[in-house]
Amino acid sequence: MLRVSQLTAAYGSAQVLNGVDLELGHKEIVALLGRNGMGKTTLMKSLMAIVPVSGGRVRLGERDITGLRTHEIAKSGVGYVPQGRGIFDKLTVEENLRMGMRALPNGAGGVPEFLYEQFPILRERRAQVAGTLSGGQKQQLAISRALCSNPKVLLLDEPSEGVQPNIVQELGVFLRGLVDRHDIAVLIVEQNLELVHQTADRFDIMVKGRIVHSGANSELDDQGMLQRFLSV
Ligand SMILES: Nc1ncnc2c1ncn2[C@@H]1O[C@H](COP(=O)(O)OP(=O)(O)OP(=O)(O)O)[C@@H](O)[C@H]1O
Ligand SMILES: [Mg+2]
Repeated sequence: MLRVSQLTAAYGSAQVLNGVDLELGHKEIVALLGRNGMGKTTLMKSLMAIVPVSGGRVRLGERDITGLRTHEIAKSGVGYVPQGRGIFDKLTVEENLRMGMRALPNGAGGVPEFLYEQFPILRERRAQVAGTLSGGQKQQLAISRALCSNPKVLLLDEPSEGVQPNIVQELGVFLRGLVDRHDIAVLIVEQNLELVHQTADRFDIMVKGRIVHSGANSELDDQGMLQRFLSV
């Protein structure tokens, strides 16, 4: 579904991505793990062309999307929930969701019903300004907004951040259900290993802008491996 090869990116003279190779299969959830500052967010931003790519390739299905602009990448089928969520606090819940539909071919249609069914609070609060939602509700809104454009690939950057544990658990259930019921694949950057365990089919670990280790969900119990790559 998504195939990233030898991707490089830099901020000025500081090279952050040093040749990332990563694949995301159809209906797969892959977790991207790594200590702070290793380049996880930079990878997501470069996939969305928010940070310019200096080398390498990104393919979405059969299509080479390297070098496309951010809105073209969104239109081609990549949904993105940035770290910190990136919702518009002063707009209402419904206005935020409508922003998510801009990437659709004719920008029309309503909020997909399954989102309101899944997150009824968003329907109840649709006229409320988003800034007054709780952390968990904001995350539900951010993910729903990204899903409004019916993406083939969803990029989630630390969705559990600032969300209380029981809501994190619900988020995990939602993500599993999402890939079960829809043609979508998810790349999730996450520090919360419980959520990773609950949702991801497999994981990749990034160290200094490169994937240095990959494993199946079952390998997340390997304390030595976690210690080696993730402990601070
Ligand atoms: N806009 C920027 N300008 C310059 N350097 C940046 C910028 N954003 C990030 N960096 C640097 O790039 C490196 C990778 O940052 P990035 O945010 O991708 O890490 P991360 O793995 O997402 O970390 P975290 O787990 O803390 O979110 C860090 O050294 C960071 O300081
Ligand atoms: Mg980050």
